Amino acid sequence: MIVGVPKERFPGETRVALVPAALAKLRKSGLDILIEAGAGAASGYPDAAYVAEGAEIVGARDVLYDRAEIILRVRTGGAEPTQAADELALLRAGQRLIGMMEPLGEAQFVQAIAERGVEAFALELIPRISRAQSMDVLSSMATLAGYKAVLLAANNLQKIYPLMMTAAGTLTAARVLVVGVGVAGLQAIATSRRLGAIVEAYDIRPAVKEQVQSLGAKFVELELEAQRAESEGGYAQAQGEAFYQRQRQLMAEVVARNDVVMTTASVPGKAPPTLITAEMVHGMAPGSIIVDLAAERGGNCALTQPGQTVEVNGVKIMGPVNLPATVPFHASQMYSRNIATFLLHLLKDERDADGPTTDEIVLETRVTQGGQVVHPRLSVEMAD
Ligand code: NAI
Repeated sequence: MIVGVPKERFPGETRVALVPAALAKLRKSGLDILIEAGAGAASGYPDAAYVAEGAEIVGARDVLYDRAEIILRVRTGGAEPTQAADELALLRAGQRLIGMMEPLGEAQFVQAIAERGVEAFALELIPRISRAQSMDVLSSMATLAGYKAVLLAANNLQKIYPLMMTAAGTLTAARVLVVGVGVAGLQAIATSRRLGAIVEAYDIRPAVKEQVQSLGAKFVELELEAQRAESEGGYAQAQGEAFYQRQRQLMAEVVARNDVVMTTASVPGKAPPTLITAEMVHGMAPGSIIVDLAAERGGNCALTQPGQTVEVNGVKIMGPVNLPATVPFHASQMYSRNIATFLLHLLKDERDADGPTTDEIVLETRVTQGGQVVHPRLSVEMAD
């Protein structure tokens, strides 16, 4: 079976779906690998490194799509709107497409892929279960984003992070608040602590209190009780507007006492909740920083502009997008491990299955098959 890896073309995207180190295992499983010329160049993996691992470099993109039976992407469909039509024209019925494709946000792209007869797997839908951890692209990328967001904040803050006692006097440590303690939030806490900041954190899922404390941060207790805060999959559940209003009221004071506020709150399939209002920004001291990791989907701060830094009253509000692409060598390494593990799992499941698959990982990620949108969550949304 032939696997093809095209070069990513989305503006600012530097990652590649497979790194050379992933090839040995795939080839051992009988897969031949085609890499589009220059696909790994932006992340530090030259063509020669792929050739050394037994891949064939293909110069023409259409030839790669023509020959490959399985296409591996970082971004495709709704996650790559700039190229979606071009890619669709290259895909053919029966081909398989695996990558991040924003299936819950961009339904028309999934529909178009289905109509093309392509069998597509959206890696954002990998269930958060132990056996799928090594395939979980959202977690691996969020870890890197959490780390990089702290560096952005530290670089832009007028203060230093650590406590410093010197002959020239004592400098107090910076104070950091992390709102939303999922994967990105936990990494943001750990990285801020390593730099010496005093960190506090809040999440609506009380289960994370222990994790916050184990990283040396303080858990902020708000007199607020979420309804069914956590879904079976371990994700947060959306709350009503009255809840968010109360949360903002209670958090205003906590936000005001910190130098840096990092927001990472998200609920799968929904727009991120607005947790920091313009009024709360005005309550912060000039020189403070907000890094809004939810920027790409609209943000947790009312003043966030995706991909930009805006300054209001001396407070910088940063809305970075695609932070993993700023550390492409390691981001590609992690992504490659995720996608290769998924592919091998999919092929093994197929070999072992006696009839249609019952495997949760395959069923949860497969969005199109046989000309139809087959994912239950998507079919419902499209019917609406
Ligand atoms: P996650 O689902 O692991 O964590 C989100 C956390 O937010 C959960 O712990 C949830 O309980 C919490 N939360 C939900 N509602 C809340 C509320 N009202 N108050 C406090 N906490 C609340 O998600 P993950 O993987 O950590 O990603 C976090 C965000 O970072 C997402 O919006 C994701 O899209 C974004 N992200 C941004 C990147 C960038 O480059 N800007 C890269 C990767 C992820």
